[in-house]
Amino acid sequence: MDKYLIEGGPRLAGTVRASGAKNSALKLMAAAVMAEDACLIHNVPDIMDVRIMMDVLAYIGMGVTFSGGDLEITPATAPRLEAPYHLVQKMRAAVEVLGPLIARHGRARVAMPGGCNIGARQVDMHMKGLALMGARMGVSHGYIEAEADGLSGTHLYLDFASMGATENIMMAAVLADGVTVVENAAKEPEIADLAAFLSGMGARIEGAGTSTIEIEGSRTLSGVEHTVIGDRIEVGTLLLAAAITRGEVLVEGADPGHLEIFIEKMREAGCEMRADGRGISVSVPREVTGVEISTLPYPGFPTDLQPQTLAVLATAQGTSFITENIFDNRFMVVDELNRLGASIKTNDHHAIVRGVPRLSGAPVSATDLRAGAALVLAGLSAEGTTEVYDIGHIDRGYERFEEKLASLGAKIERVPSEA
Ligand code: EPZ
Repeated sequence: MDKYLIEGGPRLAGTVRASGAKNSALKLMAAAVMAEDACLIHNVPDIMDVRIMMDVLAYIGMGVTFSGGDLEITPATAPRLEAPYHLVQKMRAAVEVLGPLIARHGRARVAMPGGCNIGARQVDMHMKGLALMGARMGVSHGYIEAEADGLSGTHLYLDFASMGATENIMMAAVLADGVTVVENAAKEPEIADLAAFLSGMGARIEGAGTSTIEIEGSRTLSGVEHTVIGDRIEVGTLLLAAAITRGEVLVEGADPGHLEIFIEKMREAGCEMRADGRGISVSVPREVTGVEISTLPYPGFPTDLQPQTLAVLATAQGTSFITENIFDNRFMVVDELNRLGASIKTNDHHAIVRGVPRLSGAPVSATDLRAGAALVLAGLSAEGTTEVYDIGHIDRGYERFEEKLASLGAKIERVPSEA
């Protein structure tokens, strides 16, 4: 596995474009399982998680070709109704083929996604929702086994506004008999993008992006051509890279309306933020100061930007208080940031960050995707050289990450790792 070699110091400057949204593209690929003919998806990021989802679709027997951000998916002639452990274990979003397989083929065998470094990753709400639609759900030998003689619409309430559960249930509902209403649904922009994709296939969906989604079942779904929305989390990560180096950057590629609370928090921390049709720009005229942040389901502060924001606040003036409400173990990056000279203490779901004048470069290791990105950001501003190991985690969700940062003036290169 490679590592990043980073020389801290340069203020980032210029314009950079984010790729398509990982957390939408993966679900559109799952939805394509239900199409009677080919789907063509544009603006798909070339990242490891997309490659793994391509392997899942190929394992099912579907045709998958990917070139220059354009992904073509064709139906399987004799589908294998399974997502195997060796793929689901690599990428838990593979569990989202469960709803599509049951809805289209009446059966599915999907490996239970294990936990991951950021915490337990349950699928109880996915399974409960599908059972309420008439699927017979069971778990044996580490696999979810599901069967259905057709699904029926239902009116269900999610205990928590789970993104994955909302998506799996919404996809299953588009081929159910009758109307399904999902209450307390997740409202992330990626949900609305998936609904737009499904509507393009012929589904009838109202309310995607709000907490109540109504789906009227169809008999069949056609193929569709669709362009993935921009990746709001990558945009936020690049804006934070500019902020930690006290630079001035314009990030194109995502709708500023998908990052409202995040932009407001960056303003509160002393950054100058401007959003217009081209994208979002950041500059840091004075100092970055400490703030209070609580992560919440959309439109709250995104948990996927929490580690990267922690890195910026580690170099802010004053103290910050961060509460992580979504995952039960998403402060893994703190130990590594403290090895770079940060002063962060955690207690359960809370972190207290006492800003330090400057971090100092050191060897560190990425524990997961967003923690890895946070360590890169810290290295961009730390005094001296920072080596970030285990950057395969970063390759899962960021396309050409070092290229984009280097185009803004960062001294970062990918080198073979001796570890
Ligand atoms: C999606 O994960 C994203 N991943 C995550 O991004 C993101 O952090 C998360 O939503 C929250 O926004 C993808 O879209 C591929 P959840 P998901 O279902 O769907 C619990 C990244 O860095 N839960 O909203 O798994 C669960 O344990 C990744 O890009 C249940 O208890 O998130 C977790 O604590 C990380 N039972 C919380 O809800 C269930 O049935 C959030 O889960 C489902 C979820």
